[in-house]
Amino acid sequence: MVRKTLREVVIDEMLPEDVPEVLAIEQVAFTTPWSGTLFMNEIYKPLSLPKVARAGGRIVGYICANQVLDEGHILNVTVHPEHRGQGMAREMVRHIVGLLEERSCSVIYLEVRVSNEAALRMYERAGFRMITVRKRYYTSPEEDAVIMALDLPAGKS
Ligand SMILES: CC(C)(COP(=O)(O)OP(=O)(O)OC[C@H]1O[C@@H](n2cnc3c(N)ncnc32)[C@H](O)[C@@H]1OP(=O)(O)O)[C@@H](O)C(=O)NCCC(=O)NCCS
Repeated sequence: MVRKTLREVVIDEMLPEDVPEVLAIEQVAFTTPWSGTLFMNEIYKPLSLPKVARAGGRIVGYICANQVLDEGHILNVTVHPEHRGQGMAREMVRHIVGLLEERSCSVIYLEVRVSNEAALRMYERAGFRMITVRKRYYTSPEEDAVIMALDLPAGKS
């Protein structure tokens, strides 16, 4: 099998024509996948930052974030199962943190299922810290959410 290296990966705006490929990854990654409409909403909202990672002309991952005043929020980060463990998520998170920092955000929040060890570890490695647990936040299956935050320089005095 030919493995892609990170050098071949480009992070781009998510476009309406990307949604079918994004949905194919979303549906294998989550028990409660987002619909096409939800992704389309992110594409058209002015304060949303939906991005795709492309390698060899194919979408291998995506990330959605948004901004409310000086707060950023990462909504999802997903990598195609065949492309995991190659630093793809790390690169997408670094990219989105940089964009939110440029937009003067002082903090970025996100939530993640308590059982999602890969995501928890990935966010911790990106500098996020756990701030609290929100009980029974998720459904299908019901599960607690870990709320994580990353403070950005704009918020440090
Ligand atoms: C979580 C996910 C995005 C990680 O993507 P990835 O591209 O494989 O992650 P990376 O290769 O960039 O790894 C980044 C860090 O996370 C850690 N990590 C990634 N997968 C891991 C796993 N299965 N177990 C433990 N740690 C893991 C890596 O060790 C790495 O840390 P390091 O720099 O110390 O080596 C991917 O597993 C995925 O798409 N999961 C399904 C969707 C999901 O749960 N998204 C998050 C919630 S929205």
